[in-house]
Amino acid sequence: MGRVEGKTAIVTGGASGIGEACAKLLAQEGATVVVSDIDRSGGARVAKEIEEAGGKACFLEHDVTSESRWQEIVAETASAFGGLHVLVNNAGIGVGGLCEHFSLEDWHRQTAINIDGVFLGTKHAIPAMRAAGSGSIVIMSSGAGLSGAPGMSGYCATKGAVRLFAKAVALEMAQLGDNIRVNSVHPGVIDTPIWTKVTPETRAAFGAAATGNAVDPAVLASAMAPVGRAGTPDDIAWGVVYLASDEARYVTGSELVIDGGATA
Ligand SMILES: NC(=O)c1ccc[n+]([C@@H]2O[C@H](COP(=O)([O-])OP(=O)(O)OC[C@H]3O[C@@H](n4cnc5c(N)ncnc54)[C@H](O)[C@@H]3O)[C@@H](O)[C@H]2O)c1
Repeated sequence: MGRVEGKTAIVTGGASGIGEACAKLLAQEGATVVVSDIDRSGGARVAKEIEEAGGKACFLEHDVTSESRWQEIVAETASAFGGLHVLVNNAGIGVGGLCEHFSLEDWHRQTAINIDGVFLGTKHAIPAMRAAGSGSIVIMSSGAGLSGAPGMSGYCATKGAVRLFAKAVALEMAQLGDNIRVNSVHPGVIDTPIWTKVTPETRAAFGAAATGNAVDPAVLASAMAPVGRAGTPDDIAWGVVYLASDEARYVTGSELVIDGGATA
């Protein structure tokens, strides 16, 4: 019996990195998984790999900044799989640059995905989870949602915002007696493709860890994480499986830090 057997989960940003690992481990533990992402080929690949491994999954193309698309995704999930029990609000981007040089356009691009996307997903998942009788909403924040990082003020603002958003909605759900839990997860430096998608301004924020067109998570982690290595996507996904499962039935409004000791 898998740890999330019988549950249906949506994982946003499921085509890559941490979201891909969450989708695969949730499926391995018995959930039916809707992989959602703007990346059509990556999302289809992840859903196919889950099915080939004996799991249940489908891919739905999804821009988390679109409210109308969120309504469709939740409705399609509930009608195709008989309900929605788990939402992993994972899709996110990291745009760096000194505050005084940061453009309003980049600020809005980042907040649209990292905050608006989380708000819209949570808003539309709640009624579906209420109808299903229970729910777990997991919000992918960051170590950068717990403390500041120079050159990453816009990113820190988004990750700090969703940390308190999670707690406030957790309290609403508890008050309403809805059996819907909401928690945030705070990864440290995790080795995913996000580090290859960075702008020159973002690379500059990471100093010596920036090499060529990317930031090297191993170099960054050797300076930041006391355990001396970058985390893997699975290191985060196992925490998400726990929060999604009934093992975490008394866990709500909490923040799960998975960072190799970086904030200890
Ligand atoms: N990698 C790390 O070190 C790290 C650390 C802390 C927090 N995080 C957070 O974890 C989450 C996942 O990051 P990752 O490292 O796996 O990144 P990633 O770049 O590997 O994956 C992010 C995924 O989100 C998708 N995405 C981007 N914009 C989207 C949109 N508008 N709608 C739907 N999908 C969209 C991308 O296509 C991609 O598949 C992010 O929220 C990130 O901020 C990552």
